[in-house]
Amino acid sequence: MAKLFFALWPNEEIRTQIENVNQQFRNKGFRLTKKPNLHITLEFLGEISVNDQKELINKINELRCDSFDLELARIGWWRKPAILWIGTTNIPKPLTSLVKSIKKCVDQQGINPDQREYNPHVTIARKVKQVIIPKETFNIAWHVNSIALVISKSTDGGVEYRVLQDWPLTN
Ligand code: 2AM
Repeated sequence: MAKLFFALWPNEEIRTQIENVNQQFRNKGFRLTKKPNLHITLEFLGEISVNDQKELINKINELRCDSFDLELARIGWWRKPAILWIGTTNIPKPLTSLVKSIKKCVDQQGINPDQREYNPHVTIARKVKQVIIPKETFNIAWHVNSIALVISKSTDGGVEYRVLQDWPLTN
């Protein structure tokens, strides 16, 4: 069994830009996401057997989805999970179709897809009980041309993510 999720996995350049936005929330008592862990979840799978994993990968191999441009340009806060996030100004249609296609594969594999409305975001800090969101604007232009299947492991130093496999999105 392994704890897995599908994600948009930023390259080093985008990761640095997100990290730069993050820096303003240092020393506020929040638990900031470590730079190597920054990502946007597409679909959280939870604990998956080796067999389900193999069959799901075969299904994803058959997908043909379009690449798209994301503009990360706003910071938001959800009181309940107490997370601070960076999000998009609008959700591109190819992203909506991509998530729908992945959910279909997950569903066909008999894995319960997440039923909540999809809300793409990069979690940048946890344990955020209160926050004043700065007014400064930013715009991180991310051309998304691949998706990743990621394994999540708990370690003494916190959670660690590793990309198991990635797939290109067509241009
Ligand atoms: P989050 O960033 O909003 O917390 C790995 O845990 C990723 O899967 C995180 O980005 C997390 O989103 C997302 N995720 C979605 N549902 C989850 C769940 N039930 N448990 C843990 N992570 C979940």
